[in-house]
Amino acid sequence: MDYMNETGYLVAALVTIGLIYYRLILLSAIQWLIFERQQRKVSTQTNLNGNEKLQRIVPILDKDPSTLKPPVYRPFKSGPFNLTMGLQSLNTDEWIEIDCHYKEQMKLKDDFFTKRPDETVLWKPSTENGSREALEMLVDYLPQRFPNMFRKTNVGIDNLITGESFDLTKNLKIHPLEIGSRLVQEDLVLMQYEASDEFYHLNAQAVCFPAGWVPKEKFLLPIWALHMPNVPLFEEKLKFSVNRFFSKLQEDKPVIRLNWFLQTDDKLWKAENLHRQTSGQDTSITAENVGEKMYLRCERQTLRRLPKSQDILFTIKTYLTPMSEVASDSAVAKRFATCLRNLPQSVANYKSLPVFGEAVLGYLDSMSQSEQINGTCE
Ligand code: HEM
Repeated sequence: MDYMNETGYLVAALVTIGLIYYRLILLSAIQWLIFERQQRKVSTQTNLNGNEKLQRIVPILDKDPSTLKPPVYRPFKSGPFNLTMGLQSLNTDEWIEIDCHYKEQMKLKDDFFTKRPDETVLWKPSTENGSREALEMLVDYLPQRFPNMFRKTNVGIDNLITGESFDLTKNLKIHPLEIGSRLVQEDLVLMQYEASDEFYHLNAQAVCFPAGWVPKEKFLLPIWALHMPNVPLFEEKLKFSVNRFFSKLQEDKPVIRLNWFLQTDDKLWKAENLHRQTSGQDTSITAENVGEKMYLRCERQTLRRLPKSQDILFTIKTYLTPMSEVASDSAVAKRFATCLRNLPQSVANYKSLPVFGEAVLGYLDSMSQSEQINGTCE
């Protein structure tokens, strides 16, 4: 009997505990559902230009860019060479990147925009709406993504890193793309559809860090003429697919692409002397000093259609990394060497390999056998 009583108590206790757990789980589920609904409401209210299809922006809470290490982009493939568009889809919250080089690059941009306005900022009147829209998107996005670095104000935006404030309600004295380019490390380009030839054209730009092209020479050109005749295989492989891709690009499906070059200094303005340097080997570059003297230049490019104007905004973020840091990962050194060996001659010439290719390969081969060292943020 005692035994039965004890079992009865045990069952009753277990049922009570079970009921409590059940209620707790039910309560948590209801709370979670309410929270989710609220979040969804906030995210659709605050998303870029009210476009509900875009994702919620996950904030990066750092106060100072100096704590943000640049991401590691090493976009060389070890397989056989094949020129493709190389596009990948982009999470909208990763649209713009900020890193520890922000302050120095903003100073550099200020210098270029102030001293060489005609070489850096060019626009066609038809791009006024698109340029404004691009700026508004940045002003909307930056305080959400980097809430401790940018603050949206009633009249525009405060840059808490540089202390600058922009009032966008007045007649702008500075071109909107230039203002945008003064907020972010990226260069900004607006591509616009021209019915006359059915191609997208470079109709506005605020560019300070060109990789082997002179911005004012490319102004107004259609997408194919931006690349031809210089970019090997562009005509055969990409001329029409790139324009077709531009025509079909959807507002809520931005993309990124990465590219790479090698250079013998750490200059960001490289309008000349980057590509197609084929005359003569540079004997001052040797396998022993490539690590210190040479840099990998990597561009992270994004493309997105602007919902109102339907123009396409092209952003270019440039990363310069000393070759010693690139090759400190022996697997990367090995992959890079294989990629260089697999380039067709026309592409090797385009990347200026006749000038320093032998030294770079010698260096990468030796580093592919060494131990891994970690990179820095200097
Ligand atoms: C889907 C889009 C695009 C693709 C697939 C593409 C492809 C390429 C390729 C393969 C190169 C050679 C260097 C490299 O490896 O990246 C290149 C260079 C270049 N691209 Fe693009 N590109 C695209 C969009 C654009 C846009 C929107 C612009 C507008 C500014 C642009 C301007 C240039 C310029 C100026 C060069 C250097 C050309 C030269 O050496 O004279 N590209 N592009």
